[in-house]
Amino acid sequence: MSTLQPLTLVYDRGDVRPFPLPAELQRLYGGELGLPERCVFANFVSTIDGVVAIPSLRRSNRLISEDSEADRFVMALLRACADVVLVGSGTLIGSPTARWQAEGAYPPAAAELAELRRLLGRPAGPEVAVVTGSGSIDPAHPAIRAGALVLTTARGAAKLADRLPDPARAAVLPGELEVDLRAALAFLHASGHERILSEAGPTLFGALAASGLVDELFLTVSPLLGSRSGAESKLGLVEHTELLPSRRLRTHLRSVRLHGDHLFVRYELEPPVEAASTP
Ligand SMILES: NC(=O)c1ccc[n+]([C@@H]2O[C@H](COP(=O)([O-])OP(=O)(O)OC[C@H]3O[C@@H](n4cnc5c(N)ncnc54)[C@H](OP(=O)(O)O)[C@@H]3O)[C@@H](O)[C@H]2O)c1
Repeated sequence: MSTLQPLTLVYDRGDVRPFPLPAELQRLYGGELGLPERCVFANFVSTIDGVVAIPSLRRSNRLISEDSEADRFVMALLRACADVVLVGSGTLIGSPTARWQAEGAYPPAAAELAELRRLLGRPAGPEVAVVTGSGSIDPAHPAIRAGALVLTTARGAAKLADRLPDPARAAVLPGELEVDLRAALAFLHASGHERILSEAGPTLFGALAASGLVDELFLTVSPLLGSRSGAESKLGLVEHTELLPSRRLRTHLRSVRLHGDHLFVRYELEPPVEAASTP
């Protein structure tokens, strides 16, 4: 039984058919949740000024989220709705014990999260897919050992040859240094994965969003200022991809929830447009 205070619903555009959420999940989330039948949705926690990771610190997510129980609950709920959780090699390295399963993020609601998957007609847990062009991943990572799908290039597959433990497997996709992301998503869809949750870091998320491949962003804003200055390198929500001023990626607000001083915002993303064609 969860001791979490429910999130407070402030605004919901309410235009997606809601899932049959078990009552306890609907109570904790502060209302309904639905996602399109086929979509790519991303989840992040950020400081007010957009810092999402301090890669030199182990589990910097916890520092950034202030170890928010509500954030872990929302993460678990989104995982429970996903067919596959997508991460990049940077996130795999930065999360050496993660398995990206719903109950792991929020154990007090494990039974209700499992019930939601059953009601959605989904298997016990989402598949985990790791994107790596170089193949520089640790085959002993727990998510790989548990059977993750590795989306890689011919070069990455050659590097990983015979090193992936059963039941993990690699899919060789187009791309020289990096994986062709359109091909990666098409491969996942063709494998029967309709709802793809990106828990990738800002490099892969930025590349996906800049290619118009992300439909929605669930963003937790913690009540912290992080600053991009200082001895530690810190990552913002989008890295290694240029958007403004040359490209404009507009979002639309779908919902807003509160939990204490934490803000939970859901955005719908438009495909980016070249700035020259914007007003
Ligand atoms: N605050 C949050 O909510 C949150 C969420 C997720 C992650 N994080 C943190 O973010 C940090 C990792 O950030 P990151 O940006 O390095 O992780 P990432 O985006 O998950 O992984 C990036 C890596 O993916 C591989 N990749 C392959 N094809 C790609 C393509 N087409 N486009 C982009 N990347 C491609 C590249 O490595 P290869 O050399 O293997 O090809 C690239 O360096 C960690 O500290 C993690 O904990 C925070």
